[in-house]
Amino acid sequence: MTIALTWTALADGDGPVLRYVPELRDGTPIADLACIVRGRSAADAAHAAIAQLPAWLLATEDTILAAALVRSGAAPKRHAIVMQCDLRINAPVLDVDSRFTCVDLPDSPADPQWTAILPSWRAAFPSDHPDHFAGDDDTAIAFIMRLVDGTELGPLHRSTTLLLDSSGVPVAGIMVNIRPQDPPLGGPWIADIWRDPSLRGTGVGAMLIGRARRLLREDGQVSLGLAVTAGNPARHTYAGQGFSTVIESQTVLLPPAPEPAFQFPSR
Ligand SMILES: CC(C)(COP(=O)(O)OP(=O)(O)OC[C@H]1O[C@@H](n2cnc3c(N)ncnc32)[C@H](O)[C@@H]1OP(=O)(O)O)[C@@H](O)C(=O)NCCC(=O)NCCS
Repeated sequence: MTIALTWTALADGDGPVLRYVPELRDGTPIADLACIVRGRSAADAAHAAIAQLPAWLLATEDTILAAALVRSGAAPKRHAIVMQCDLRINAPVLDVDSRFTCVDLPDSPADPQWTAILPSWRAAFPSDHPDHFAGDDDTAIAFIMRLVDGTELGPLHRSTTLLLDSSGVPVAGIMVNIRPQDPPLGGPWIADIWRDPSLRGTGVGAMLIGRARRLLREDGQVSLGLAVTAGNPARHTYAGQGFSTVIESQTVLLPPAPEPAFQFPSR
């Protein structure tokens, strides 16, 4: 069962000005899919968002709204491209070949296997990667665990897997969650995919995606979505694997509420 998006609106003295879907991302509230109400200006929408949603994230497809927010003090966070693959098209796909073994990810943050898993994950997101993860290992495990236990994006699909090489070392992985909303922002979703940089150009990304496509089709799913940060070359891999762009979205962080002005105590 999917859940329809819950739209809400901000209003100012002249009426509704900004529509959005309230969500939580990594524990921070986000005004997702934000759009200006017809007939209102980007400046009014930015003013209302900054006054009424302090310290929220806001994601919008509207580049004029994003620019107005940044001019008003919001910090640019991410330019994301949402891509979708139609699983009803029965295209030939790769599957994981005999060089690798598929195993499940650990389901506990205390599992000692994480020590072996994190090196390939961290190497795939080096410091110059647009999605570099700067936190320590415990924070990284907690981040991945929120995907594994379903709290962040919905239940994990069985196409989620870790790839071990012939020596049993984890070298790649894919996490597929079933997001509760309707596609393109919901349904089966690649929440993470990586391979050790030493495997670049060997088709590992295509194998992980191909295997996920096959298992999702077997389970009657019709679409597979993902978000990739602009500038990440993985976008070309996705395009080659049957994904096309459906949404381009800018995320900004709205400024915190201003400190109340200091007032001298009255005598
Ligand atoms: C996402 C990711 C796993 C995709 O892996 P990838 O290496 O780009 O994709 P593949 O493993 O399918 O390799 C594709 C390349 O290998 C080549 N290749 C070689 N043998 C191949 C084979 N048997 N099958 C398919 N491609 C093959 C392809 O021609 C292609 O080359 P090109 O990039 O010059 O066109 C990888 O880019 C990655 O780990 N990136 C860092 C982490 C990241 O950004 N994750 C995504 C977050 S949204």
